[in-house]
Amino acid sequence: MNADAHLNLDAIRMAELKRAMGGFATGVTIVATSHGGADYGMTCNSFNTVSLDPPLVLWSVRKQSASRAAFTGSSGYTVSVLGSHQQALAERFTHGAPTERFDGVGTTRLPTGRVRLDDAVSWFDCTLEQVVGAGDHDVLIGRVIAFAAGAGEPLVYVHGGFTAPLRAASREVATASGRPVRR
Ligand SMILES: Cc1cc2nc3c(=O)[nH]c(=O)nc-3n(C[C@H](O)[C@H](O)[C@H](O)COP(=O)(O)O)c2cc1C
Repeated sequence: MNADAHLNLDAIRMAELKRAMGGFATGVTIVATSHGGADYGMTCNSFNTVSLDPPLVLWSVRKQSASRAAFTGSSGYTVSVLGSHQQALAERFTHGAPTERFDGVGTTRLPTGRVRLDDAVSWFDCTLEQVVGAGDHDVLIGRVIAFAAGAGEPLVYVHGGFTAPLRAASREVATASGRPVRR
């Protein structure tokens, strides 16, 4: 096998790995922090819960991300869980200058100085407990110090695209079969 064939095989395996990982449906969040007097935010689906007692969460930031230093160098971050009507926000917070991302977006500044997005399904304000380097990402473990759970259907990300929540789909099926059962 020559070097080129080796490269192609690696590329194929990487694409397969990404496809396999893409089968894991997640919610979609905007993580935000305040650093050096500026707000930073980015779309994130690596958010997850770690522990209830103490209340710990995590998400991972790409080491190449322009916002990485702001997140690892600040005292914490907020996580705003997006609703199914907020796909435009999920797309918006993937590019552009940090300040432009928040232009015209409804936010509330918390006592910690960090912002959260309005109309989110739920939100968490976290102090940064630990940064764990892991491959091409840093894992940011945070302790929840404030949070709120709202109403509304969450936005879902799966197979590289946004979709409606699975619960909404099952409701439709139930309605179509003449049994309008709300689950
Ligand atoms: C659905 C979705 C989820 C994402 N999740 C993450 C994530 O968990 N970690 C991450 O570093 N980037 C994630 N990204 C990409 C970042 O949002 C994007 O690279 C970042 O906003 C670029 O900003 P920067 O110029 O500050 O690096 C995600 C993008 C999308 C569309």
